[in-house]
Amino acid sequence: MKIITGTREEVSKKAAQRYVELLAKKPEAVLGLATGSTPLELYAELARLCAAGEVSFARAKSYNLDEYLGLDGSHDQSYRYFMDNNLFKHIDIRPENTHVPSGFVKDDAEAAQYDAEIAAAGGVDLQLLGIGNNGHIGFNEPLTPYDSLTHIVKLTESTREANKRFFKSIDEVPTHAVTMGIHTVMQARSIILMAFGRGKAEIIKKTVQGRPEISVPASLLQLHTDVTLYLDEDAASLL
Ligand code: GLP
Repeated sequence: MKIITGTREEVSKKAAQRYVELLAKKPEAVLGLATGSTPLELYAELARLCAAGEVSFARAKSYNLDEYLGLDGSHDQSYRYFMDNNLFKHIDIRPENTHVPSGFVKDDAEAAQYDAEIAAAGGVDLQLLGIGNNGHIGFNEPLTPYDSLTHIVKLTESTREANKRFFKSIDEVPTHAVTMGIHTVMQARSIILMAFGRGKAEIIKKTVQGRPEISVPASLLQLHTDVTLYLDEDAASLL
């Protein structure tokens, strides 16, 4: 794993350059995207670069990692809503080329169609990840199988607690989500993981220095050949 550290702003800008380089080389690249507070500065920088004519997403496609079960794009806590408002409407990507897993799939077989769609689009060139406090990537909670495709998950109470700040109360936080699986993520040609703040330091240490094991999903990224971590000094403080 390659590790890049700096201030939040510096590493977000460096991560943004990965998109500039990739899209210059491959304008039709397939981007795996993520939600959460961590990528917000990266997304703002991509919007700025796009407005400045330094990058174009006009031919790119995107596939998001996850979505809450039962929320559609009109719900202000859905990940579709988040992506539209924090990135898609500020860049030149075509709305029909943006994909977020459906929060209305009925079972895992239907959810796994997402993997087939990604494969048909040529596979993800660059997958962006945040990390949950328990090491989850997307919504792959600890002990998710290594060979998992896009599937329905029951969220852990710690994840619901962590995400309740965005909802009126914990009762409104969905109990389930649909997420790309570990296998789905590992299929990406390159992966970027971003983490900020002291609260992520412990899990970043396990991710980088621990044994790769399914109890810490992000540690499995050690088994991928092209992963770069973009960390602020706090998140990197225990390395
Ligand atoms: C959610 C998302 C993850 C994200 C994580 C961390 O649970 N499903 O994809 O990485 O939160 O969020 P944050 O970036 O706000 O710390």
